Amino acid sequence: MRLYLDTADSDEIRQAVAWGVCDGVTTNPSLFAKVSGSAGSYKERVQEIAGIVDGPISAECVSRTADALVEEAREIASWHPNVVVKIPIDAAGLEAISRVSAAGIQVNTTLIFSANQALLAANAGAAYVSPFIGRLDDIGQDGVTLVAEIVEMLDRYHLPTQVIAASVRHTQHVTACASVGAHIATLPFPVLASMLQHPLTDKGIATFLADWDRAQAQQRSGAESVAR
Ligand code: G3P
Repeated sequence: MRLYLDTADSDEIRQAVAWGVCDGVTTNPSLFAKVSGSAGSYKERVQEIAGIVDGPISAECVSRTADALVEEAREIASWHPNVVVKIPIDAAGLEAISRVSAAGIQVNTTLIFSANQALLAANAGAAYVSPFIGRLDDIGQDGVTLVAEIVEMLDRYHLPTQVIAASVRHTQHVTACASVGAHIATLPFPVLASMLQHPLTDKGIATFLADWDRAQAQQRSGAESVAR
């Protein structure tokens, strides 16, 4: 499973790229709002991100009619060759997904909450569908089960659309999405950083370092005895 960062924060992206585990980035208006004080325009921030990570970068359309979405998608796609346009799934969105995909622009269909929405987006030609798993968990449904259903459905009908598990809230979500075959999970930076951590790793490193120091001290004292 490939890992994307779900952020508009360039420092977080630089760190994930340095770790070698950032295959792409997803952004949305809410994530841009978090950094907008220091970010310049949305276009400038997306282009900055494109200079940091060599992979797909999703940038969201906010228009509300099909014609306006198509025009906005064409504009956003022109910002950088790696830009994927994000379009929410509704009636206007579905028409826009169909027209934009037919024009060769990659679409990430966002705000997916059912397998049927994913099927419509895939049949309309979307390159990606993004089920929001944490928000489903929030209302008492199982987000990972939806990811599993969509993965199986796309696989059964040989649809090339890829599943991006989004609204990921914790490390268990990541493991579960990988287990059910999500192609990609897009993670808030703290979730990515948490994947690194285990208390037994920290304890093991401390023990190795202490034993190394002890071994060095023993060697020094052995060498001193021989010299005497
Ligand atoms: O990628 C979608 C994500 O940004 C939404 O996450 O935590 O607001 O549901 P959340």
